[in-house]
Amino acid sequence: MKGIILAGGANTRLYPLTTTTSKQLLPVYDRQMIFYPLNILIKAGIKNILIIVTPEHSGQFINLLGSMFDDFGVHIEFKVQKTPRGLADAFILGENFINEDNVTMILGDNVFEDDLAREIKSFQRGGLVFAKEVKDPERFGVVEFGDDGGVISIEEKPEKPKSNFCVTGIYTYNKEVIEIAKSLEPSERGEIEITDINKEYLRRGSLRVGKIKGAWLDAGTFDSLLEANKIVKEKHIYENMDPVINRAIEKFNGELKNIKK
Ligand code: TTP
Repeated sequence: MKGIILAGGANTRLYPLTTTTSKQLLPVYDRQMIFYPLNILIKAGIKNILIIVTPEHSGQFINLLGSMFDDFGVHIEFKVQKTPRGLADAFILGENFINEDNVTMILGDNVFEDDLAREIKSFQRGGLVFAKEVKDPERFGVVEFGDDGGVISIEEKPEKPKSNFCVTGIYTYNKEVIEIAKSLEPSERGEIEITDINKEYLRRGSLRVGKIKGAWLDAGTFDSLLEANKIVKEKHIYENMDPVINRAIEKFNGELKNIKK
């Protein structure tokens, strides 16, 4: 299983914060936002990770993560996305990186309380996404479940949502995702949509949708960024990260302090 973190985007909703750095490098409690999705991938046992970044912020990501995990058995590489073409672009940019493997893509601004490692590790075929019950489903991809718990439909930002369950920002697929992503036409808002990938797996009868119970946030607005900080502190998410992350950060900080002395 390979891992991709999608950490580009326009980040306009957080202006002016994101005029000086990338959204995913803003602090969430005691570390940059990107460590939260990185933790989910590393906890799931993923050792090869591609981080997709904007041209403006590539240097900042490399300064932070370019060699932080070298001694910890996690290989990180980077790819620049020139323009924010949509979430499905991750699989086109990541084609050579994914190669013949399965892949889990996670959005760089998503904070999950749950540990999704067991489900990701037991992934076998098709696609796997996770739904969360929310108050404002019309902002997301909405999943309609049947009485037997099976998925009936998925709709992107519907005016009349058929349920309160939305698809969260972590997606596990087999390598077919590359061809599916390449076949997509941009939506009305001009992006290639991940919902269209999920609909295609659903059409093929190979989409599984798990449900998550714990907190989930995309930290892309001022309120959700504040909320993410609070949840991370209250629920001790930073302390419960994979030990590899906390050890790598400690070593990185120690090396920096030595240089400054
Ligand atoms: P969004 O929050 O939907 O978009 P955005 O970050 O560009 O923000 P805004 O609406 O404020 O302008 O993106 C979700 C995540 O995916 C976020 O971490 C950015 C990332 N992303 C990319 O890396 N490339 C893309 O083409 C898009 C659309 C998003």
